[in-house]
Amino acid sequence: MAAKKKRRIAILTGGGDCPGLNAVIRAVQRTAQNVYGWELWGVRNGVEGFLMPRGEGLVRLDRPAVAGILTQGGTILGASNRCDIFAVPRNRGGPKDESPRVLKLLKQKGIDVLITVGGDGTHRMAQRFVEMGIKVVGVPKTIDNDIRGTDRSFGFDTAVGTVGEAIHRLYSTAESHHRVMLVEVMGRHSGFIALHGGLGTGAEVILIPEIPYDPDRIAEKVRARREHGLNYSIVVVAEGARRPKGEMVYRTGDGSSEHTDRLGGVSYRVAEELSRRIKLEVRNIVLGHTQRGGTPSPFDRILASLYGRHAVQLIHEGKFGQMVNVRGTKLGSISIKTAASGVNKIPPRGDRVRAAREMGISFAAADGSDDPYAKARKKHGAP
Ligand code: F6P
Repeated sequence: MAAKKKRRIAILTGGGDCPGLNAVIRAVQRTAQNVYGWELWGVRNGVEGFLMPRGEGLVRLDRPAVAGILTQGGTILGASNRCDIFAVPRNRGGPKDESPRVLKLLKQKGIDVLITVGGDGTHRMAQRFVEMGIKVVGVPKTIDNDIRGTDRSFGFDTAVGTVGEAIHRLYSTAESHHRVMLVEVMGRHSGFIALHGGLGTGAEVILIPEIPYDPDRIAEKVRARREHGLNYSIVVVAEGARRPKGEMVYRTGDGSSEHTDRLGGVSYRVAEELSRRIKLEVRNIVLGHTQRGGTPSPFDRILASLYGRHAVQLIHEGKFGQMVNVRGTKLGSISIKTAASGVNKIPPRGDRVRAAREMGISFAAADGSDDPYAKARKKHGAP
C-alpha cells in the first residue's frame, strides 16, 4: 500500500480576534503531529502575512510553540480585519490583486493545505482561494454566532458570559439610582449576543437587528415597570439595532465596506430617543471589545479544540473546500461556499424570541409583534 502523503499545513486566523482561536491552533498542531506526523505553519496577522517580505509571514508552529495557549485569549498569530488580499491599496494607481502571492508562498514553503479560521468575511475570501485551486479547510469563528451552516461558532459562549457579568453588575447601580441603563453589545447583522445576554440576565428590553424597534415601545415598558414600583430597567442594544426605516449607526464608514466600516454608538441614539419620552435618567454603556477579549470559557475551549481536531480529520479524508460545523451536538462539515453565502439571523417568530416575550421581555417591536393583539385593539378603538 502506498504511504499516505506527509502533509505540511498552514493555519491563519482571519477577521477580528475571538476567545478560542489559540485552542484551535493548539488542537490542529497536536492532532496533526500526534496522529499523522504532519507539520504545521502559522500565517501571521491573517492574510496580511502573505504580503510580508521574504516569506516572514509564515512561521513554523511546533509543539513548544503551542504549549500553554489553550486558555489564552486572542491569537498567537495576530489578527487583522482590514486587508482584502484581492484589492490591496497602493500608493499609486488603483488597488492590486495580491492573491497570486498566496499561491506562490504556499508553494515555496511546500505547504499543501490551508486552514482558515474566521467568520463570514474570511470564508468569502477562503472560497475564492478554493476557486484558485488551493486546498482549504475552514473553521467557524465569531463571537456573533452568525456563521451560516453551523449552530455554533466558538467565542460566542465567552462573549455572552462577559455581557451577562456586566449586566449583572449594572442592575444594582441602576436600581440605586433609579436609572434606565442601555447596554450596547456587538452583533452587526444578528442579535444573538443581545438575545442571549438579555435572556440570561432577565433584561427588560432587547433590541436586535432582526426586529426594528420603536422608542415609544421601550418607553411603554419602562413606564409599566414604574407602575409596579420598579424605577429601573436594563435595555440590551445590539450594535446593529435600527428603527424600521432607520440606518445602522457607524463610528467610521457608511456600510459600504466591511474592511473600513466600524459600527458602534447606537445606544447613544436610543438614549436620546428614550430621554425625550420618560422621566427617569437614561445612561448608556458600550461594552465593545471587552466581549472579544479574555480567556475563553471552558465550553469555547472544548468546542474550539473539537473543531481544530475535526479540521485535521477532514484533511486526512481529503475533504477540501469544507468548513467544520456543528448541528445539534454532531460535528460535521459543510461547503465553504454555503458558509460564505450569508449570515445566520434570529427568526423574529422563532422559539427563543417567543420564550423571551412570554416571560415579559420586550423587543420594542415597531410592527407591534411583541403584543399580537395591539393591531386588533387599535382597529376596534379599544384602549
Ligand atoms: O464580527 C465580530 C465583531 O465583533 C462585530 O460584532 C463587530 O462589529 C466587529 O467585530 C468589530 O470589529 P473591529 O475590531 O474591527 O472594531
